[in-house]
Amino acid sequence: MPEMAVVTRRLPGDPSGWAPDLMLSRQRLKPSWVENWLRDPQGVQPGTKMPAYYPDSYPPDILGGDPEKQIQAMKDFLMNLRKED
Ligand code: HEM
Repeated sequence: MPEMAVVTRRLPGDPSGWAPDLMLSRQRLKPSWVENWLRDPQGVQPGTKMPAYYPDSYPPDILGGDPEKQIQAMKDFLMNLRKED
């Protein structure tokens, strides 16, 4: 994931100390949990800093502005990350 590499290089320290290893998503996260989290972070974990993008502030220009397609695409991306990607 090159974008993530760019972001982590701008932040101090070793990312293993503060950032989750997204490569472990497929082992550690349930697809349904990822969907629920993206749909309503506060519903899953009240008080979280993760902003809610649905139903009011998701990008209109990605996947035809279809919230369900966007949620599925992010879930599929995370659940299919492998080392060779
Ligand atoms: C386009 C997708 C996403 C965007 C733009 C996004 C954005 C953010 C932002 C801005 C924060 C707040 C960071 C802070 O102020 O500390 C955050 C927190 C977080 N996000 Fe996301 N996120 C996305 C997807 C996800 C997904 C798919 C997951 C889980 C699989 C996730 C899990 C988390 C967690 C666990 C936190 C920390 C919450 C806390 O400290 O209470 N995010 N996210």
